[in-house]
Amino acid sequence: MNKTVEVLPDQPALVARALELILSKLETAIEQRGRFSIALSGGSTPKPLYEAIANQKLPWDKIHIFWGDERYVPPDHPDSNELMTRRAWLDHVDIPAANIHPVPTLEANPELAAAKYEQQLKEFFNSSGVEFPSLDVILLGMGDDAHTASLFPHTEALKVRDRLVTVGNKDGNPRISFTYPFINAASSVIFLVAGANKRPALAQVFAPVADDFTYPSRLIQPQGELWWLLDAAAGLELQD
Ligand code: 6PG
Repeated sequence: MNKTVEVLPDQPALVARALELILSKLETAIEQRGRFSIALSGGSTPKPLYEAIANQKLPWDKIHIFWGDERYVPPDHPDSNELMTRRAWLDHVDIPAANIHPVPTLEANPELAAAKYEQQLKEFFNSSGVEFPSLDVILLGMGDDAHTASLFPHTEALKVRDRLVTVGNKDGNPRISFTYPFINAASSVIFLVAGANKRPALAQVFAPVADDFTYPSRLIQPQGELWWLLDAAAGLELQD
């Protein structure tokens, strides 16, 4: 694993750096393999990044969008990560509908939604073997409880190692989430973390020893590149 931690002065600088990094990975992936696959996170931090990407002139027909987690709500529900992303970005660019791969949250129950999304991922990557397919980039946030995607502390989702997608649980509300082994199979994982409220969780995630099930972001140890992009409010104590 190749881990890089960058502390940016403020949120606009954080967004600018994340944009630069993603565009660089996008260019390389398209040059080398003719397409770029990225899984997005929800929450509030990435929204300005999505708005910034929407202003870029990119080969949208070569770009494929997934979500690393989603609330088990219809795509027009105010809590939907897909809805937030479409409003901030996807509705404003000429990306083919077939390149947008939302979590099928209209399935009858969360388990069916997770299983269907897993099948769609396997078909996209033409992967039927035991190897986890590898997304080019997975963008993650981190909650102040050190959760990431919808892998919340002390939940069953943290124990799932033989699936790509599982059912997460936040205070009794079902979520659909990539599993941590699937996240770890990505070529690059980029955490975007802002705000002083994230400092205590970051201290535990970066500690030499702490409990992974209490601080789930510790489980993210990708075989490829791991980037932590922090604003100064979040990353103050982590600056070298
Ligand atoms: C979600 C996100 C979640 C988010 C963190 C951080 O569906 O809410 O995927 O994992 O990334 O909760 O959220 P903020 O960026 O809003 O702090």
